[in-house]
Amino acid sequence: MKAVKIKENIYWVGGIDWNLRNFHGYMTQRGSTYNAYLITDKKTVLIDTVKHYLYDEMLARISDIIDPKKIDYVISNHVEMDHSGSIPRLTELIPNATVVTSSPGEKGLRAHYGKSWNFKTVKTGDKINIGARELTFVMEQMVHWPDNMATYSEKDKIIFSNDAFGQHIASSERFDTEYPLDILIEEARKYYANIVLPYGSQVQKVLEALKPFEIDTIAPSHGIIWTEHIPEILNEYVKWAGNQTEGKCTIVYDTMWQSTEKIAMAIKNAFENKNIRCKIYNLKLTHISDIMSDVITSKYICLGSPTLNNNILPTVSSFLTYLKGLAPKNRAALAFGSFGWSGQSVGIIENIFKEMGLNLLDSIKTQYVPDEKKLKQITEDIQNQIGGNNG
Ligand code: FEO
Repeated sequence: MKAVKIKENIYWVGGIDWNLRNFHGYMTQRGSTYNAYLITDKKTVLIDTVKHYLYDEMLARISDIIDPKKIDYVISNHVEMDHSGSIPRLTELIPNATVVTSSPGEKGLRAHYGKSWNFKTVKTGDKINIGARELTFVMEQMVHWPDNMATYSEKDKIIFSNDAFGQHIASSERFDTEYPLDILIEEARKYYANIVLPYGSQVQKVLEALKPFEIDTIAPSHGIIWTEHIPEILNEYVKWAGNQTEGKCTIVYDTMWQSTEKIAMAIKNAFENKNIRCKIYNLKLTHISDIMSDVITSKYICLGSPTLNNNILPTVSSFLTYLKGLAPKNRAALAFGSFGWSGQSVGIIENIFKEMGLNLLDSIKTQYVPDEKKLKQITEDIQNQIGGNNG
Protein backbone atom coordinates (compact mmCIF):
# COMPACT_ATOMS: atom_id res chain seq x y z
CA MET A 1 0.00 0.00 0.00
CA LYS A 2 1.49 3.30 -1.09
CA ALA A 3 0.95 6.75 0.30
CA VAL A 4 0.23 9.44 -2.29
CA LYS A 5 2.18 12.67 -2.10
CA ILE A 6 -0.10 15.72 -2.08
CA LYS A 7 2.51 18.37 -1.38
CA GLU A 8 5.99 18.43 0.14
CA ASN A 9 5.70 16.43 3.41
CA ILE A 10 1.93 15.96 3.02
CA TYR A 11 0.54 12.58 1.99
CA TRP A 12 -2.79 10.91 1.41
CA VAL A 13 -2.84 7.77 3.57
CA GLY A 14 -6.55 6.89 3.44
CA GLY A 15 -8.53 3.79 2.61
CA ILE A 16 -10.48 2.91 -0.52
CA ASP A 17 -13.87 1.25 0.01
CA TRP A 18 -14.30 -0.21 -3.46
CA ASN A 19 -17.38 -2.28 -2.62
CA LEU A 20 -19.35 0.24 -0.56
CA ARG A 21 -22.81 0.45 -2.10
CA ASN A 22 -24.87 1.74 0.81
CA PHE A 23 -23.68 4.50 3.13
CA HIS A 24 -26.28 4.58 5.92
CA GLY A 25 -29.08 4.42 3.37
CA TYR A 26 -27.44 6.48 0.63
CA MET A 27 -26.64 4.39 -2.46
CA THR A 28 -22.97 4.75 -3.31
CA GLN A 29 -22.71 3.05 -6.69
CA ARG A 30 -19.16 4.33 -7.17
CA GLY A 31 -17.91 3.23 -3.73
CA SER A 32 -16.04 5.71 -1.55
CA THR A 33 -12.79 6.60 0.15
CA TYR A 34 -12.05 7.74 3.68
CA ASN A 35 -9.25 10.22 3.30
CA ALA A 36 -6.62 10.43 6.00
CA TYR A 37 -3.69 12.80 5.56
CA LEU A 38 -0.21 12.62 7.03
CA ILE A 39 1.98 15.67 7.60
CA THR A 40 5.63 15.01 8.42
CA ASP A 41 7.10 18.13 9.97
CA LYS A 42 9.00 18.59 13.24
CA LYS A 43 5.88 17.02 14.66
CA THR A 44 4.07 14.27 12.79
CA VAL A 45 0.36 14.81 12.28
CA LEU A 46 -2.41 12.53 11.05
CA ILE A 47 -5.59 14.27 9.94
CA ASP A 48 -8.61 11.97 10.32
CA THR A 49 -8.56 8.19 9.98
CA VAL A 50 -10.64 5.60 8.12
CA LYS A 51 -13.49 3.17 8.83
CA HIS A 52 -12.37 0.53 11.29
CA TYR A 53 -12.16 -2.24 8.70
CA LEU A 54 -9.66 -0.28 6.61
CA TYR A 55 -7.28 0.36 9.52
CA ASP A 56 -4.60 -1.99 8.17
CA GLU A 57 -4.71 -0.29 4.79
CA MET A 58 -4.26 3.13 6.40
CA LEU A 59 -1.45 1.87 8.62
CA ALA A 60 0.36 0.36 5.64
CA ARG A 61 0.18 3.67 3.78
CA ILE A 62 1.47 5.58 6.82
CA SER A 63 4.27 3.02 7.20
CA ASP A 64 5.23 3.69 3.58
CA ILE A 65 6.39 7.14 4.81
CA ILE A 66 7.23 6.87 8.51
CA ASP A 67 6.99 4.61 11.52
CA PRO A 68 3.38 5.16 12.69
CA LYS A 69 4.66 5.28 16.28
CA LYS A 70 6.14 8.69 15.44
CA ILE A 71 2.70 10.31 15.13
CA ASP A 72 2.41 13.15 17.66
CA TYR A 73 -1.00 14.54 16.80
CA VAL A 74 -4.17 12.89 15.54
CA ILE A 75 -6.52 15.61 14.35
CA SER A 76 -10.12 14.43 14.39
CA ASN A 77 -12.01 16.85 12.17
CA HIS A 78 -15.20 14.83 12.60
CA VAL A 79 -16.47 12.19 15.02
CA GLU A 80 -18.58 10.17 12.56
CA MET A 81 -17.16 6.67 12.47
CA ASP A 82 -16.14 6.67 8.83
CA HIS A 83 -13.39 9.09 9.96
CA SER A 84 -12.82 8.26 13.62
CA GLY A 85 -13.29 4.50 13.42
CA SER A 86 -9.57 3.71 13.40
CA ILE A 87 -8.57 6.08 16.22
CA PRO A 88 -9.07 3.41 18.94
CA ARG A 89 -6.64 0.95 17.35
CA LEU A 90 -4.20 3.66 16.30
CA THR A 91 -4.01 5.14 19.79
CA GLU A 92 -3.11 1.70 21.18
CA LEU A 93 0.04 2.12 19.10
CA ILE A 94 0.59 5.75 20.10
CA PRO A 95 -0.93 6.13 23.59
CA ASN A 96 0.87 9.42 24.22
CA ALA A 97 -0.33 11.12 21.05
CA THR A 98 -2.56 14.18 21.37
CA VAL A 99 -6.03 13.92 19.87
CA VAL A 100 -6.94 17.37 18.57
CA THR A 101 -10.62 18.01 18.05
CA SER A 102 -13.41 20.49 18.67
CA SER A 103 -15.18 20.60 22.00
CA PRO A 104 -18.24 18.72 20.60
CA GLY A 105 -15.69 16.44 18.96
CA GLU A 106 -14.19 15.46 22.32
CA LYS A 107 -17.66 14.84 23.72
CA GLY A 108 -18.56 12.73 20.70
CA LEU A 109 -15.34 10.71 20.70
CA ARG A 110 -15.71 9.95 24.41
CA ALA A 111 -19.32 8.88 23.83
CA HIS A 112 -18.41 6.66 20.89
CA TYR A 113 -15.32 4.97 22.25
CA GLY A 114 -15.32 5.51 26.04
CA LYS A 115 -11.62 6.38 26.03
CA SER A 116 -9.76 9.17 27.80
CA TRP A 117 -7.20 10.04 25.17
CA ASN A 118 -4.93 13.09 25.53
CA PHE A 119 -7.48 15.49 24.16
CA LYS A 120 -6.73 19.02 23.06
CA THR A 121 -9.82 20.95 22.07
CA VAL A 122 -9.70 23.76 19.55
CA LYS A 123 -12.07 26.31 18.05
CA THR A 124 -12.08 28.64 15.06
CA GLY A 125 -8.83 30.59 14.84
CA ASP A 126 -6.86 28.33 17.18
CA LYS A 127 -3.49 27.21 15.86
CA ILE A 128 -0.91 24.57 16.61
CA ASN A 129 2.70 24.89 15.57
CA ILE A 130 4.17 21.68 14.19
CA GLY A 131 7.56 22.98 13.03
CA ALA A 132 7.71 24.71 9.67
CA ARG A 133 3.95 24.87 9.66
CA GLU A 134 1.16 26.29 11.69
CA LEU A 135 -2.18 24.52 11.46
CA THR A 136 -5.30 26.67 11.87
CA PHE A 137 -8.72 25.32 12.75
CA VAL A 138 -12.07 26.47 11.39
CA MET A 139 -15.28 25.16 12.89
CA GLU A 140 -17.80 23.79 10.39
CA GLN A 141 -20.66 23.28 12.88
CA MET A 142 -23.55 21.33 11.37
CA VAL A 143 -21.79 20.68 8.08
CA HIS A 144 -23.09 18.23 8.91
CA TRP A 145 -22.55 17.32 12.61
CA PRO A 146 -22.01 19.68 15.58
CA ASP A 147 -18.35 18.66 15.81
CA ASN A 148 -17.23 19.15 12.21
CA MET A 149 -14.18 21.31 11.65
CA ALA A 150 -11.57 21.97 8.97
CA THR A 151 -7.79 22.20 9.33
CA TYR A 152 -5.79 24.71 7.27
CA SER A 153 -2.07 24.96 6.55
CA GLU A 154 -1.11 28.44 5.38
CA LYS A 155 2.34 27.31 4.30
CA ASP A 156 0.82 24.78 1.90
CA LYS A 157 -2.37 26.68 1.00
CA ILE A 158 -4.28 23.49 1.69
CA ILE A 159 -7.51 23.04 3.60
CA PHE A 160 -8.51 19.66 4.96
CA SER A 161 -12.23 20.28 4.72
CA ASN A 162 -13.57 16.95 6.00
CA ASP A 163 -17.06 16.10 4.65
CA ALA A 164 -17.48 19.48 2.94
CA PHE A 165 -16.66 19.24 -0.79
CA GLY A 166 -16.50 15.43 -0.56
CA GLN A 167 -17.86 12.87 -2.98
CA HIS A 168 -18.43 9.13 -2.68
CA ILE A 169 -16.01 7.88 -5.32
CA ALA A 170 -13.64 4.93 -5.02
CA SER A 171 -10.79 5.34 -7.47
CA SER A 172 -7.06 5.01 -7.96
CA GLU A 173 -7.04 8.67 -8.96
CA ARG A 174 -6.60 11.15 -6.14
CA PHE A 175 -6.73 14.53 -7.89
CA ASP A 176 -9.34 16.38 -9.93
CA THR A 177 -6.77 16.75 -12.71
CA GLU A 178 -6.99 12.98 -13.23
CA TYR A 179 -10.75 12.44 -13.02
CA PRO A 180 -13.67 13.46 -15.29
CA LEU A 181 -15.03 16.73 -13.94
CA ASP A 182 -18.66 15.98 -14.87
CA ILE A 183 -18.69 12.81 -12.75
CA LEU A 184 -16.90 14.62 -9.94
CA ILE A 185 -19.51 17.39 -9.85
CA GLU A 186 -22.34 14.84 -10.18
CA GLU A 187 -21.07 12.90 -7.15
CA ALA A 188 -20.37 16.09 -5.16
CA ARG A 189 -23.96 17.15 -5.93
CA LYS A 190 -25.35 13.81 -4.82
CA TYR A 191 -23.27 14.00 -1.63
CA TYR A 192 -24.51 17.52 -0.90
CA ALA A 193 -28.15 16.61 -1.70
CA ASN A 194 -28.15 13.60 0.62
CA ILE A 195 -25.91 14.76 3.46
CA VAL A 196 -25.53 18.52 3.57
CA LEU A 197 -28.74 19.95 2.08
CA PRO A 198 -30.50 20.76 5.40
CA TYR A 199 -27.56 22.94 6.46
CA GLY A 200 -27.43 25.59 3.75
CA SER A 201 -27.08 28.55 6.09
CA GLN A 202 -24.25 26.81 7.98
CA VAL A 203 -22.50 26.09 4.66
CA GLN A 204 -22.81 29.75 3.75
CA LYS A 205 -21.09 30.66 7.04
CA VAL A 206 -18.26 28.23 6.29
CA LEU A 207 -17.82 29.61 2.77
CA GLU A 208 -17.61 33.09 4.31
CA ALA A 209 -15.12 31.92 6.96
CA LEU A 210 -12.87 30.44 4.28
CA LYS A 211 -12.69 33.64 2.22
CA PRO A 212 -9.61 35.09 3.98
CA PHE A 213 -7.61 31.92 3.36
CA GLU A 214 -5.41 31.45 0.34
CA ILE A 215 -6.33 27.98 -0.91
CA ASP A 216 -4.92 26.04 -3.83
CA THR A 217 -5.92 22.59 -2.60
CA ILE A 218 -9.12 21.36 -0.96
CA ALA A 219 -8.56 17.94 0.57
CA PRO A 220 -11.93 16.51 1.64
CA SER A 221 -12.50 13.37 3.67
CA HIS A 222 -14.18 11.49 0.82
CA GLY A 223 -13.21 11.07 -2.81
CA ILE A 224 -11.10 13.25 -5.03
CA ILE A 225 -8.87 16.17 -3.98
CA TRP A 226 -9.65 19.54 -5.57
CA THR A 227 -6.73 21.44 -7.09
CA GLU A 228 -7.63 22.67 -10.58
CA HIS A 229 -11.41 22.96 -10.25
CA ILE A 230 -11.74 24.80 -6.94
CA PRO A 231 -13.70 27.72 -8.48
CA GLU A 232 -16.17 25.23 -9.99
CA ILE A 233 -16.89 23.36 -6.76
CA LEU A 234 -17.07 26.57 -4.71
CA ASN A 235 -19.51 27.97 -7.25
CA GLU A 236 -21.68 24.86 -7.01
CA TYR A 237 -21.62 25.03 -3.19
CA VAL A 238 -22.77 28.66 -3.31
CA LYS A 239 -25.73 27.60 -5.48
CA TRP A 240 -26.65 24.54 -3.44
CA ALA A 241 -26.31 26.32 -0.09
CA GLY A 242 -28.51 29.15 -1.39
CA ASN A 243 -31.17 26.69 -2.59
CA GLN A 244 -30.74 28.09 -6.09
CA THR A 245 -32.47 25.90 -8.65
CA GLU A 246 -32.63 25.50 -12.40
CA GLY A 247 -35.85 25.77 -14.41
CA LYS A 248 -36.37 22.05 -14.05
CA CYS A 249 -39.00 19.65 -12.74
CA THR A 250 -38.62 16.34 -10.91
CA ILE A 251 -41.69 14.09 -10.95
CA VAL A 252 -41.70 11.23 -8.46
CA TYR A 253 -44.45 8.65 -8.05
CA ASP A 254 -45.48 5.14 -7.28
CA THR A 255 -48.48 3.51 -8.89
CA MET A 256 -50.74 0.46 -8.42
CA TRP A 257 -52.67 0.14 -11.69
CA GLN A 258 -50.86 2.86 -13.71
CA SER A 259 -53.45 5.60 -13.18
CA THR A 260 -51.10 7.70 -11.05
CA GLU A 261 -48.41 6.98 -13.64
CA LYS A 262 -50.69 8.36 -16.37
CA ILE A 263 -51.12 11.55 -14.36
CA ALA A 264 -47.32 11.76 -13.96
CA MET A 265 -46.96 11.66 -17.74
CA ALA A 266 -49.66 14.31 -18.21
CA ILE A 267 -47.77 16.52 -15.75
CA LYS A 268 -44.55 15.92 -17.67
CA ASN A 269 -46.28 17.01 -20.89
CA ALA A 270 -47.33 20.28 -19.26
CA PHE A 271 -43.79 21.14 -18.17
CA GLU A 272 -42.27 20.08 -21.48
CA ASN A 273 -44.83 22.18 -23.36
CA LYS A 274 -43.47 25.10 -21.35
CA ASN A 275 -39.89 24.11 -22.25
CA ILE A 276 -39.12 23.07 -18.68
CA ARG A 277 -36.92 19.99 -18.46
CA CYS A 278 -38.32 17.00 -16.53
CA LYS A 279 -36.97 13.95 -14.77
CA ILE A 280 -39.47 11.22 -13.89
CA TYR A 281 -38.86 8.55 -11.29
CA ASN A 282 -40.96 5.53 -10.33
CA LEU A 283 -40.16 4.85 -6.68
CA LYS A 284 -40.33 1.10 -7.28
CA LEU A 285 -37.37 1.41 -9.64
CA THR A 286 -35.16 4.20 -8.31
CA HIS A 287 -33.59 4.73 -4.92
CA ILE A 288 -34.57 7.87 -3.03
CA SER A 289 -30.94 8.98 -2.68
CA ASP A 290 -30.53 8.96 -6.47
CA ILE A 291 -33.69 11.04 -6.88
CA MET A 292 -32.29 13.69 -4.52
CA SER A 293 -29.53 14.43 -7.06
CA ASP A 294 -32.24 15.90 -9.29
CA VAL A 295 -34.41 17.39 -6.56
CA ILE A 296 -31.56 19.65 -5.47
CA THR A 297 -31.52 21.50 -8.79
CA SER A 298 -35.27 21.38 -9.46
CA LYS A 299 -37.55 24.36 -9.11
CA TYR A 300 -40.58 22.06 -9.22
CA ILE A 301 -41.15 18.86 -7.23
CA CYS A 302 -44.21 16.78 -8.13
CA LEU A 303 -45.08 13.76 -6.01
CA GLY A 304 -47.81 11.24 -6.69
CA SER A 305 -49.38 8.33 -4.89
CA PRO A 306 -52.61 6.41 -5.28
CA THR A 307 -54.68 5.97 -2.15
CA LEU A 308 -54.12 2.63 -0.45
CA ASN A 309 -55.94 1.80 2.79
CA ASN A 310 -56.80 5.48 3.30
CA ASN A 311 -53.11 6.37 3.02
CA ILE A 312 -50.19 6.80 0.63
CA LEU A 313 -48.02 3.97 -0.64
CA PRO A 314 -45.10 3.05 1.67
CA THR A 315 -42.54 3.93 -1.01
CA VAL A 316 -44.00 7.45 -1.25
CA SER A 317 -44.09 7.74 2.52
CA SER A 318 -40.42 6.79 2.69
CA PHE A 319 -39.48 9.37 0.06
CA LEU A 320 -41.54 12.08 1.79
CA THR A 321 -39.88 11.38 5.15
CA TYR A 322 -36.46 11.60 3.51
CA LEU A 323 -37.36 14.73 1.55
CA LYS A 324 -38.79 16.49 4.60
CA GLY A 325 -35.65 15.77 6.59
CA LEU A 326 -33.41 17.12 3.84
CA ALA A 327 -35.59 20.24 3.77
CA PRO A 328 -35.16 21.73 0.29
CA LYS A 329 -36.39 25.33 0.17
CA ASN A 330 -37.57 27.84 -2.45
CA ARG A 331 -39.37 25.23 -4.55
CA ALA A 332 -42.87 24.78 -5.91
CA ALA A 333 -44.54 21.46 -5.17
CA LEU A 334 -47.45 19.58 -6.63
CA ALA A 335 -49.26 16.55 -5.16
CA PHE A 336 -51.14 14.15 -7.38
CA GLY A 337 -52.69 10.71 -7.41
CA SER A 338 -55.63 8.54 -8.33
CA PHE A 339 -58.07 6.94 -5.95
CA GLY A 340 -61.00 4.53 -5.90
CA TRP A 341 -63.39 5.74 -3.21
CA SER A 342 -61.75 7.55 -0.26
CA GLY A 343 -58.89 9.51 -1.88
CA GLN A 344 -56.75 10.68 1.06
CA SER A 345 -53.33 10.33 -0.61
CA VAL A 346 -53.09 13.73 -2.27
CA GLY A 347 -54.11 15.57 0.91
CA ILE A 348 -51.53 13.66 2.95
CA ILE A 349 -48.74 14.62 0.54
CA GLU A 350 -49.96 18.20 0.35
CA ASN A 351 -50.00 18.57 4.13
CA ILE A 352 -46.37 17.52 4.35
CA PHE A 353 -45.43 19.91 1.53
CA LYS A 354 -47.14 22.66 3.56
CA GLU A 355 -45.19 21.71 6.69
CA MET A 356 -42.03 21.95 4.58
CA GLY A 357 -42.91 25.50 3.54
CA LEU A 358 -42.99 24.71 -0.18
CA ASN A 359 -45.11 26.78 -2.54
CA LEU A 360 -48.06 24.64 -3.56
CA LEU A 361 -49.40 24.28 -7.07
CA ASP A 362 -53.00 23.08 -7.38
CA SER A 363 -53.06 19.37 -6.63
CA ILE A 364 -54.45 16.74 -9.00
CA LYS A 365 -56.78 13.99 -7.93
CA THR A 366 -58.59 11.61 -10.25
CA GLN A 367 -60.99 8.77 -9.50
CA TYR A 368 -60.08 5.38 -10.95
CA VAL A 369 -58.56 5.57 -14.46
CA PRO A 370 -58.14 9.03 -16.04
CA ASP A 371 -59.21 9.01 -19.70
CA GLU A 372 -57.52 10.95 -22.51
CA LYS A 373 -59.82 13.93 -22.04
CA LYS A 374 -59.04 14.13 -18.35
CA LEU A 375 -55.29 13.79 -18.96
CA LYS A 376 -55.39 16.57 -21.54
CA GLN A 377 -57.24 18.73 -19.04
CA ILE A 378 -54.58 18.04 -16.39
CA THR A 379 -51.84 19.09 -18.82
CA GLU A 380 -53.65 22.31 -19.68
CA ASP A 381 -54.43 23.15 -16.06
CA ILE A 382 -50.79 22.81 -15.05
CA GLN A 383 -49.58 24.81 -18.04
CA ASN A 384 -51.86 27.62 -16.89
CA GLN A 385 -50.24 27.57 -13.45
CA ILE A 386 -46.56 27.56 -14.36
CA GLY A 387 -44.33 30.02 -16.13
CA GLY A 388 -41.68 28.35 -18.23
CA ASN A 389 -38.79 29.33 -20.41
CA ASN A 390 -41.05 30.27 -23.27
CA GLY A 391 -44.23 30.39 -21.25
FE1 FEO B 1 -17.92 11.29 6.17
FE2 FEO B 1 -20.02 12.78 8.37
O1 FEO B 1 -18.82 11.50 7.78
